[in-house]
This record gives sequence, structure tokens and C-alpha cells, in this order.
Amino acid sequence: MTNIVILTGAGISAESGLGTFRDKGGLWAKFNPAELASPRAFAENPARVHEFYNMRRENCVASSPNAAHLALARLEQNHLGRVLIVTQNVDDLHMRAGSVNVLQMHGDLLQAKCAKCDVKWRAALVMSKEDYCPGCGSQSCRPDIVWFGESPYHMAAIRTAISACDLFVVIGSSGSVYPAAGFVTAARGLGIATLSINLEEPSRSAAFDHVMVGPATQMVPRWVDQMLIRKGKK
Ligand code: OAD
Ligand code: ZN
Repeated sequence: MTNIVILTGAGISAESGLGTFRDKGGLWAKFNPAELASPRAFAENPARVHEFYNMRRENCVASSPNAAHLALARLEQNHLGRVLIVTQNVDDLHMRAGSVNVLQMHGDLLQAKCAKCDVKWRAALVMSKEDYCPGCGSQSCRPDIVWFGESPYHMAAIRTAISACDLFVVIGSSGSVYPAAGFVTAARGLGIATLSINLEEPSRSAAFDHVMVGPATQMVPRWVDQMLIRKGKK
């Protein structure tokens, strides 16, 4: 029985119409992360930061899970071992596809949190710097996103799951942002089999035992079919 941990990045949601960050024409080519994705940027210009995440929230709710998200949900439902998705994505497409075992390490676009008291609630579609926190009443509402310089969520659970898995898969992530970028090396160091599924060859190709190159909507269903056939269960 194989336990599988799958790290997903922006590439899995690209074919749902949500932009990646570092590809040509990606979000960080159009926008400056230093002005949008750090606590300092938010302190300096909360309206600009809200505008960016409002735009992304609007795109997110208008999008739908694609064949790759759906295939991973099918894997979780039918695979005999444990399947955990660790996602760097802040969209909700894995959950809408039906995946249950999902850890959102970079936060949740559909959630708001108070920068003062840490209370969280479901974000309005359009957030503004004038919004009041339902917990403490202050006007310091921010998206529940892990920004540069902040600690990703669920790190202990992620490390435990990786050390107990038999296969570690990276789908649609450039491997540029730590700590997520270091997971594959950690898995490799523990003797765990590793697989990359990406539009391109991975930059750290030596870290992967297996590589599938192509769009996620084609490669992920193909890989899931292989996994389920191998177990005699489709
Ligand atoms: P990147 O934009 O860095 O990388 C996207 C990856 O997806 C690249 O390796 C592409 O080759 C691949 N890709 C693009 N389209 C694809 C497709 N259709 N099928 C398969 N692969 C495809 O995005 P991430 O690695 O997710 O953090 O970026 C990590 C973090 O950087 C994000 O979570 C975000 C960003 O700053 C925060 O905002 C905190
Ligand atoms: Zn508060």
C-alpha cells in the first residue's frame, strides 16, 4: 500500500484560467511581489494589496476545477493508501474537485483574517481597508494569505506526512519558493520515490526519479490511471 504526498503549485490551476507566477506573462511578470505580497507592503498601501487579491478572488470564483484537479480527487477516493495534497495554491479548486485531504500551506484566498487579533472569517468577494474585524472591531482586515517573510501553515503535519510516504509528487510548481521547494530533496534524502509532472523539465531534475512533461490536464489523469490500474482498482 503506497502513501502518496502530492505538492501542487500554480501550474495545476493554469488551465482553469488562473495565472501562474513565474511563467512568461505570469503574475510576478506583471506585478511586483514586493508591493503586494508582504506585511510591509500591506502596512504601506493596504488598498493596493486588497485590489490585487480582490482581482484574484474574482478570477478564482469564476473558475472551475480542471481534469487534473478532478483526477487527484479520484485518486484520493480510490487509492488504497493515504493520499495527501499539500498545495501552495490559495484557490479552492482541489476542494471543489472533491479532494478532502488537502493542506493549503500558503493560505486561503476565500478567507479573511484580522492583522491585529488573528480572528478568521469567510472573505467578502471584495475586501477593503475600511472593513471592520468581527472579533476586535479594528480596521485591519487582510486576506488570509502567507506573504513573503511569514511562516507557511501546517509545516509540522507536512513534514510528518512526507517522512511517512512512499511516493512524493510535485505537480505544476517551479520549485522557487522555500520551504516547499526543499520538500523533494528532503523526500529524496529519506529514500522516497519522487515524480515531477510539469509543462517543462524540472530545474532540479536530479532530485526526481521520474518525470512527466506536458500539461497537467493531460499528464495527471494519465498518471492517476496508471496508479489505480496498478492497484487493480480503477
Ligand atoms: P510558479 O509560477 O513559480 O511555477 C509554475 C509552474 O507551473 C512552472 O514550473 C510551469 O512550468 C508550470 N506550469 C505552467 N503551466 C502548466 C500546465 N498547464 N501544466 C503543468 N505545469 C504547468 O508557481 P509556484 O511554483 O506555485 O506564493 O509558486 C510558488 C509560490 O510563489 C506561490 O504559492 C506564491 C508565489 O509567490 C505566495 O504568494 C506566498
Ligand atoms: Zn481583530
